[in-house]
Amino acid sequence: MNLRRSFILGTTALLILAGCQGTTRNARYDARTEREIERLLSQMTLAEKIGQTNQLSSYGTAEAMHDVIAEGKVGSILNEVDPYTINAMQRIAVEESRLGIPLIIGRDVIHGFRTVFPIPLGLAATFDPELVEQGARIAALEATASGVRWTFSPMLDISRDARWGRIAESSGEDTYLNKVMGTAMVRGYQGGGAGDPTCMAACAKHFVGYGAAEGGRDYNSTNIPPRQMRNVYLPPFEACIVDAGAMTLMTSFNDNDGIPATGNTHLLTDVLRKEWGFDGMVVTDWNSAGEMIAHGFADDGKDAARKAINAGVDMDMMSHTFGLNLEELIAEGKVDEGRLDDAVRNILRLKFRLGLFDDPYVDADAARDACYTEENLAAAYRSAAESAVLLRNENNTLPLDASKLRRVLVTGPLADAPYEQLGTWTFDGEASHTVTPLAALRETYGDRIAFVFEPAMATSRSRMSAAQLAAVTAKAAQCDAVLVFAGEEAILSGEAHCLADLNLQGSQSDLIAAARRSGRPVVTVIMAGRPLTVKRDLGNMDALLYSFHPGTMGGPAIADILFGKVSPSGKLPATFPVAAGQIPMHYNRNMTGRPASGTEVLLDDIVPGAGQTSLGCSSYMLDTGFAPLFPFGYGLSYTTFEYSRPELDAESYSADGTIRAACTLRNSGSRDAEEVVQLYVRDMVGSVTRPIKELKAFRRVAVPAGETVRVEIELPVAELAFWNIDMERTVEPGEFRLWMAGDSDSGEYATFHVK
Ligand code: BGC
Repeated sequence: MNLRRSFILGTTALLILAGCQGTTRNARYDARTEREIERLLSQMTLAEKIGQTNQLSSYGTAEAMHDVIAEGKVGSILNEVDPYTINAMQRIAVEESRLGIPLIIGRDVIHGFRTVFPIPLGLAATFDPELVEQGARIAALEATASGVRWTFSPMLDISRDARWGRIAESSGEDTYLNKVMGTAMVRGYQGGGAGDPTCMAACAKHFVGYGAAEGGRDYNSTNIPPRQMRNVYLPPFEACIVDAGAMTLMTSFNDNDGIPATGNTHLLTDVLRKEWGFDGMVVTDWNSAGEMIAHGFADDGKDAARKAINAGVDMDMMSHTFGLNLEELIAEGKVDEGRLDDAVRNILRLKFRLGLFDDPYVDADAARDACYTEENLAAAYRSAAESAVLLRNENNTLPLDASKLRRVLVTGPLADAPYEQLGTWTFDGEASHTVTPLAALRETYGDRIAFVFEPAMATSRSRMSAAQLAAVTAKAAQCDAVLVFAGEEAILSGEAHCLADLNLQGSQSDLIAAARRSGRPVVTVIMAGRPLTVKRDLGNMDALLYSFHPGTMGGPAIADILFGKVSPSGKLPATFPVAAGQIPMHYNRNMTGRPASGTEVLLDDIVPGAGQTSLGCSSYMLDTGFAPLFPFGYGLSYTTFEYSRPELDAESYSADGTIRAACTLRNSGSRDAEEVVQLYVRDMVGSVTRPIKELKAFRRVAVPAGETVRVEIELPVAELAFWNIDMERTVEPGEFRLWMAGDSDSGEYATFHVK
């Protein structure tokens, strides 16, 4: 067994790793930094303090920004990545502004800088936090070489709605998975923490609840009750702040239960500062302070600035409301200067921690050297390979046998679309460095197989005529197999790109059907930013490999999976619904008083004129039933895995105990492969109703063909705590069930009790 894999991902591991974050955590108590901050603060004019709280988007050149920087009217600049320009801007700040305070340059480095990794939803599908941390480290190395010292990532928004375009940027629907992936990213971005010149400050965003937008429409209101907020939405933020030491946090656009996040004192001050002890910096989202006017929560810019800073915001991203109004608000006593001082302290602390006062410059000539290194590309390849999820494989169509194929038709809008496969939020990724599946297939397997390329559709939204479809069928018939690369262009997911219809767009379903009519094996690869509803297409494909936009090295990773060099091992980080109308749909729902059993009457079973009754009815839909198309955690392999029932080291545990769970995992197929063993728990009875299952740990293990391994996971009982009827975080005594399985909907359970 691969030793590198034998790590345990429970809270134990998180705590140990958090302990390793010494540099970041200890920085909290760096008395020297605090003295420096006070020294500087005491010299600052009111205007200079307000200037520090102002974040502006780059005007494009240092000259254009000269005056605003030299006059100390800006503390941070976003959207500038040219290292020469960044150096020139820093020079103005350090040499020409009165106090010489350096700028901090921020950027959305969301899944890689130049080397693009799979979108975060794909990274989550790897269930490999070690790899995700490595990817974030690489992103930081590439970006900091250009002078970008602050990324607006990780996004920790629990996303249970694939209509919401930003599900692409999330780690999916599960709280624990978001927590594990979020903390891995924070560790990767921040590297050695304070004083490390390659430390890129992480930003835990969007605080909070943004992913629960009503109807999946971006920016929409959310209605998350306090207990759900605590149990589901806050834990990833708490872990990133308290355990991993994220240096900054961003407020979100949404109003929850009527309170816009940027003006929410309870969350920004009581929870974040007082409960979690956060001493980092809070920034608004783009104009989210100003948007409190549109929300109907503030009269005007002045009122918005007052509400935002008083709630606990330190820096204003692009609403200008702080710069324009704080002086007056302080003079009128509506904002306490002490609050402004605290905001400035938080901003200066960040700059000190990053070492910007010591050296804000980069070696601009060498900046590109950090990018696209062999190591970076190898990590991007591995991430893309581990993130691909095999959803269907009838009669072992995959892997393809290169020795048996002469001609293969490659078709579909995503087969050779280097920009589209990068996915959303890739300002700095470059199509010219991206390897597409077509290029990789020809490069690696082209000496043995003729790949006939027929894109068929220019974009994922194009329409095909009957004649064009017939031509594809005819071409396919002349080949031994068909590879259809379908999905979404990058622009169809991400911020403000929401959809009500989650079927494949344009004529893609017709294209798959046309390929099917050839009678040749049809393998579909979908590259998309969200779970799509692929039910109508499944019958037309022999195999389906789902790749959340895989990034720079997506092509080679997919080609190697198709030809069996790598066995797929990704698992779904979000439930795949049968139809969009089932949404929101997530595995960790509550039982309800009338849970569905799977034996329900469906539309076609209803006899005409059937009498009205509600007896025996359960929670499901007449047309789609109650089950999803594919459950959370699902993903096939080229081999088969057999799980034993989990064994526990005791029948009952005390609240401070540790559960030692184990199962045997047999690779009963003929290929070496990796499997993600998932540990789920159900709390059978609570003072409030509890989810039917909750992911509590997972472990990626390599199992050689024919071998059996024993997988052991330790789970502290404290991990079973939740916010109960009295709004206390506690483990309630009683009966629990525990599964160790390959997805959220299979496996046998063991029972235990907590005393
Ligand atoms: C997004 C943030 C992003 C910011 C800066 C906003 O529109 O919501 O996630 O970090 O822009 O680009």
